[in-house]
Amino acid sequence: MGDNMQIPNYEKARKRSKEETLIRDFNLEDNCLNIGINKKFFLKTYGCQMNEHDSENIRGMLETMGFKETETMEDAQFIILNTCSIRENAHNKAFGMLGRIKHLKEEHPDIIVALCGCMAQEEGVVAEISKKYKFVNFVFGTHNLDDLPKLLNNSLRDKKLNIEVYSKEGDIVENIPVVRESKYKAYVNIIYGCDKFCTYCIVPYTRGKQRSRRKEDILKEVKELVKDGYQEITLLGQNVNAYGKDLYDDYGLADLLVEVSKTNIPRIRFLTSHPWDFSDKLIEVIRDHDNIVNFVHLPIQSGNNRILKLMGRRYTRESYKELYDKLRSIPNISITTDIIVGFPGETEEEFNDTLDIVNYCKFDSAFTFIYSPRENTPASKLKDDITLKEKEERLYKLNELINDYSLKSNKKMLNKTYDVLAEGISTKEGKLFGYTETNKLVNFTGDEDNIGKIVKVKITDAKSFSLDGELVE
Ligand code: 5AD
Ligand code: SF4
Repeated sequence: MGDNMQIPNYEKARKRSKEETLIRDFNLEDNCLNIGINKKFFLKTYGCQMNEHDSENIRGMLETMGFKETETMEDAQFIILNTCSIRENAHNKAFGMLGRIKHLKEEHPDIIVALCGCMAQEEGVVAEISKKYKFVNFVFGTHNLDDLPKLLNNSLRDKKLNIEVYSKEGDIVENIPVVRESKYKAYVNIIYGCDKFCTYCIVPYTRGKQRSRRKEDILKEVKELVKDGYQEITLLGQNVNAYGKDLYDDYGLADLLVEVSKTNIPRIRFLTSHPWDFSDKLIEVIRDHDNIVNFVHLPIQSGNNRILKLMGRRYTRESYKELYDKLRSIPNISITTDIIVGFPGETEEEFNDTLDIVNYCKFDSAFTFIYSPRENTPASKLKDDITLKEKEERLYKLNELINDYSLKSNKKMLNKTYDVLAEGISTKEGKLFGYTETNKLVNFTGDEDNIGKIVKVKITDAKSFSLDGELVE
């Protein structure tokens, strides 16, 4: 690889420096303006809400440079993949896509191809790209998203593969242009990175050290969204409960929520919570503020103490239950979770502890996964003698139980009326779709004029994954 390349390095990515994070404003160099005029870009996003929101910034930067978006890859002069590393599956999809792009580029060699996001931070991925996918023009990481205009500009002149991935987290960059997916609900980053180092998880390596955004910057963004008529915001972070710890002596997520609540935006969500940092103050704040939704996503991962310890989760099934019970005491709250089955060495009894805690908690819904070994993580070095077939059977059994509780939770809503943010036209004929405060999907009859508004909907039918309803005048 050439000397000018900056390639990812896990040793550096693991380090947590005490240095302060620099905060600066986005700056678009003049020579990058207009390079996209009369050109189209195709953007494919994999993974979580963080990536979706990064893609909104990618769109923002590209449109500022004059590019227009196309949904058809074959029409694009610039193709960009914003990738995810969380499980093997996401990984394989991105490489599959690169295979398709390779054929396209053989016919149209002038197309510029870029890869960014979490996979760009992986040593192995970058090595593979520089060996087998040399047609890629440039790769950049999660710490230098704002380098996109410069890298794209360079690639118009120099066709050689350029890798610019920093393993040490970069500055917090404010005011990157943004083109949001929705006109009614918006993502707002509050904290970047993660310092928890759960043993199965690659995120602390791909997203770097925990860095909170300044509260003033967050509030300014929310106030602008209110002015623009947004109905809902989601405060985003890998672990939002750690908000403020790296920046303030005594100001955390609960304090931030109180201030955001005063902007009077109708709905405030926050995602994702780690049970470790969930304070009593936070529970009170959720309970006492109408515009902070009664919805918490609280990943449990496993119901067995030995597995939780091996996962490095820092809580026990008992302490999780205690926190869960406190949250359940908030009237009409909805609680969802993430669960991994088949962690290395998980026995049948240990898996049964997970089923047992699901029976206790009766989650409103859950995302369930088969454990997927990730490059360089401590868990990937553990002995794993459970067959894939066994893991699939566990997942199936768990999903049956989860779906059963989802249905029960949804059935409790029958014949009652709820506030629903109408988001658009449903795939079901003649209906609109939207979400309740508790994040339940509702398809309902109603006029298109209601899109973008919070309306009253009476629930007429309940399924595991959605509800049907009718607008109440
Ligand atoms: N294998 C399977 N699931 C994982 N998750 C994170 N890392 C892995 C992995 N290596 C799941 C966790 C997390 C969610 C976002 O993805 O349940 O909460
Ligand atoms: Fe990964 Fe654990 Fe951090 Fe969540 S809290 S991003 S699972 S390391």
